Amino acid sequence: MSKIAVIGTGYVGLTTSIGLASLGHKVIGFDIDPTKIEKLKNEELPIHEPGLTEMLIQAKSDGNLLFSTDLEESVKDADFVFTCVPTPQDEDGSADLSYVISASDSIKHHLKSGAIVVTKSTVPVGSAQRVELTLNRNDVHVVSNPEFLREGSAVADFKYPDRIVVGAKSELIGQKVMDLYQKIECPKIITSQSSAELIKYASNSFLAIKLSFVNDIAALCELADADAMQVMEGIGLDSRIGNKFLNPGPGWGGSCFPKDTRALASISNDFGIQMPLIDAALESNEKAHKRVADRVMNALGGSLVGTSIGVLGMTFKADTDDTRESPAIAVIERLIGRGAKVKAFDPLIRSYSLTGLEVVDSALDAARDVDALLVLTEWNEFKDLSPQDLLTVMRKNFVVDTRNLLDKKSWMDAGARFPSLKA
Ligand code: UDX
Repeated sequence: MSKIAVIGTGYVGLTTSIGLASLGHKVIGFDIDPTKIEKLKNEELPIHEPGLTEMLIQAKSDGNLLFSTDLEESVKDADFVFTCVPTPQDEDGSADLSYVISASDSIKHHLKSGAIVVTKSTVPVGSAQRVELTLNRNDVHVVSNPEFLREGSAVADFKYPDRIVVGAKSELIGQKVMDLYQKIECPKIITSQSSAELIKYASNSFLAIKLSFVNDIAALCELADADAMQVMEGIGLDSRIGNKFLNPGPGWGGSCFPKDTRALASISNDFGIQMPLIDAALESNEKAHKRVADRVMNALGGSLVGTSIGVLGMTFKADTDDTRESPAIAVIERLIGRGAKVKAFDPLIRSYSLTGLEVVDSALDAARDVDALLVLTEWNEFKDLSPQDLLTVMRKNFVVDTRNLLDKKSWMDAGARFPSLKA
C-alpha cells in the first residue's frame, strides 16, 4: 500500500487517482480549483465518464481517497506524486510544458526525501530532465508513466490496459512505480525516460495516421463503387493490420490526437528529421471534414446558402461530453461557413457558442424543417431513432451518416436519400 498524491483532477488525474485508490493505495487528489474539489468531496464528478462515479464512491468508502486544495498537505507524506496537468498546444504546435514545470516548482519544497515524481501528462522527449532540473532535488526521482486512457472507456482502460509503460533512469525506481500496478495483469515494460515519452506520441500519431488512411480509403471506396466496411473487414483480418480502429468517420479529433500529432511534428522538427506522414495525416483529416460538407452541398444543388442542416452528435466521439477538437464541430463550422444554418442535438451537450449554430433538445428538433440530417457522432441511441418520425418533420429527405451508424435499409425504405460523394 503506497501513499500517493495526484496533482490535477482533469480526465487523466481523476481516473488515475480513483483508479490507484481502487487498487488499494492511499490517494489524495489535489487541484487548485476549490469548486472542483468541493464537488469531488460530495462524490460528484466534474466530467462524464461511465463507471467512474461508482468507483469514486467505493474508493472513498474504503477510506482510500481524499481530495484537497492544500498542496503541502497532499504532497508531504506521499511516496509517489503523479502530475496530471494539461500540456496544451503552443502556438507553433509544440506542447506547452508550463503547467508541468510550475507544478514541479510548487511541489519541490514539499516532497519528502526518496519521493518519486511520476509524469502522467503527455510531454515531449527530454521533459523528465526538465522536471529534474526544476525540482533540483537529488534525493527525489522522476519517472514517466504515460496514460493511454480513452475518454468514454477510461475505467476499462485503467483496469484492463493493453500495456503499462514506465520510463525511469534506473530499473529499481521504475520497478517501484510498476509495483503500484501489481494487481493489474497486462504486459508491463520499463524503458528509459525518453522512450516512455516517445511511446505516447508515437502511439497516438500512429493511430491518427491509421484513421486518416481509413477515411481516405473509405472515400475512394465510395467513388470506386466498393463497400468501405467490407474493405475494412478484409484488411482488418490481416493480423499485422488488426481489426480495431478501422471505422471511417467525419475525421478524428479529441483532446489528444490533434494535439499530439502536431506536437510530434514539432519534436521531429526540433531534431531535424522530416516525418511527412504526420503532416499528411493532418491534411487528410481536414479533407475528411471537407468531404462531409461537400457531400451535403452536392445533394443540395451546389450551394448551402440559406439552407438549414440538422446535426446529430457534437462530441468528438460517443460516451463523452467532450467537444474539444471535435470533428463534428469542424464540420458544423464548415457548413456555417458555406452559408448554412445548423441545428444540432447531442445527448450530453446543452449549449455551444457558435454563430449560426442552435443547440436543440432532441433529435426530432434537430430534424425539424431541415434540408439534410447528418450523423456526426456515433451515439448508440441514434440507432434507435425512428426514420419515419424524423423524415416526416424534415423539409428534404437527405441523410448523411458519417459514422455508418444507421440501418441504411430501413431509412431508405422510409424514404431517406443518402447522397453520394460523386458529383
Ligand atoms: C486517445 C487514445 O486512444 C488514448 O490511448 C490516449 O491516451 C488519448 O487519446 P481518446 O482521445 O479518448 O483517446 O479517443 P479515441 O477513442 O482514441 O478516438 C479518437 C478519435 O478517433 C475520435 O474522434 C474517434 O471518433 C475517432 N475514431 C476512433 C474513428 O473515427 N474511428 C475509429 O475506428 C476509432
